[in-house]
Amino acid sequence: MNIKEIQKYFPQVQKHPDFIYLDSASTTLKLQTALDRIQQFYTHEASNVHRGSDPLGIHATDLYEESRQIVAEFLSAKHPEEIVFTRSTTEGLNLLAYVLQLQLKEGDEILLTQMEHHSNFLPWQILAQKHGFKIKYLPVTSEGELDLSNIDQFLTSKVRIFSFVHQSNALGTLNPAKKLIQKAKEVGAITIVDSAQSCSTQEIDVKELDCDFLVFSAHKLFSTFGVGVIYGKKELWEQLEPYQTGGGMVLDSVKRIWAKPPHCFEAGTPAISGVLALSAVIKFLKKNISFDEILKHEKHLLNTAEDVLKEVPQLKFVGVSPTRINTLSFIIDGLHSDDLALILGRQKVAVRSGHHCCQPLMDHYGLKSGTVRASFSVYNKEEDVLALKQALLKAVDILT
Ligand code: ALA
Repeated sequence: MNIKEIQKYFPQVQKHPDFIYLDSASTTLKLQTALDRIQQFYTHEASNVHRGSDPLGIHATDLYEESRQIVAEFLSAKHPEEIVFTRSTTEGLNLLAYVLQLQLKEGDEILLTQMEHHSNFLPWQILAQKHGFKIKYLPVTSEGELDLSNIDQFLTSKVRIFSFVHQSNALGTLNPAKKLIQKAKEVGAITIVDSAQSCSTQEIDVKELDCDFLVFSAHKLFSTFGVGVIYGKKELWEQLEPYQTGGGMVLDSVKRIWAKPPHCFEAGTPAISGVLALSAVIKFLKKNISFDEILKHEKHLLNTAEDVLKEVPQLKFVGVSPTRINTLSFIIDGLHSDDLALILGRQKVAVRSGHHCCQPLMDHYGLKSGTVRASFSVYNKEEDVLALKQALLKAVDILT
């Protein structure tokens, strides 16, 4: 199936052909198959999981656990038990920070990068303050890449956890995850990869990356809100204590004997329909579209955008890494990013403006009003990029 065919499977694109959606880094549009799966579940199969022993309850449990297997295969994980379902990437990172704190002692170091999303530094900062851990940040270059020239000074044997973003949501840079993980292994640090943005642009193979943990959200992979995934190595999950307590995660609540992973990390009723939708999306992608095709298409749109946006007066790209795939950030001298985004929005061109939940990164670049971010996905066309340019020219005209 080619990209044109694929676009037909996104109902919002079909229903609103005049609306130019260039904010897929915020959330991707949803595949029809995800919506159909939810409709099917609530119409014919609704029941809780791991509870009822009636046929519907057993069926829902089977579907849910089958989805865990599908997600594990999607990530090339060795075992389905390595997959924990959460509500989002943010919850995944908070969960990991919380459960890993017991593995650390005062003075231990946590390495992050200067381009992290708030969800990958606030949880660590709070723990560091509470327990006396030290946080270090790998710096970024003026091109928007990680500065690895002094990595050995940052990644010392004191570092117990190295948590970093695979693909920057603010700049689009794709970080060399495999190389960073190998370096971290040399000093025995636990590695966590935030794959919220990279999950829809490339095949993620956790065995190949050899990361200890990796997190992403279903809503950034053409599926629905409210479902996140944490992959973690089985032997590591087995050493950790639960994050939340409640139903479904305990074998004996009087003696406090927890269920085995992954169930001890999934207290309460999970987002069952969203999990089924995610596995339906994965099956759809596997059957109909390769990540090579997605990457080629998105990279083509990005290159086109870089070319045509050069014609907009005073426009400067923020982050110019050649590793970018589908996300570009820019400013226009003298204009506030929010004003630009607002006027683009009035012309039915959706982008995001501001600090993109990466305030320290924007501070580093001295960008008080942040940037305007355009992000492309598989359903965008070259015409969308041209419309962005026209809308920007108009916005500049209005604002100057
Ligand atoms: N993290 C999402 C973004 O970058 C919401 O917009």
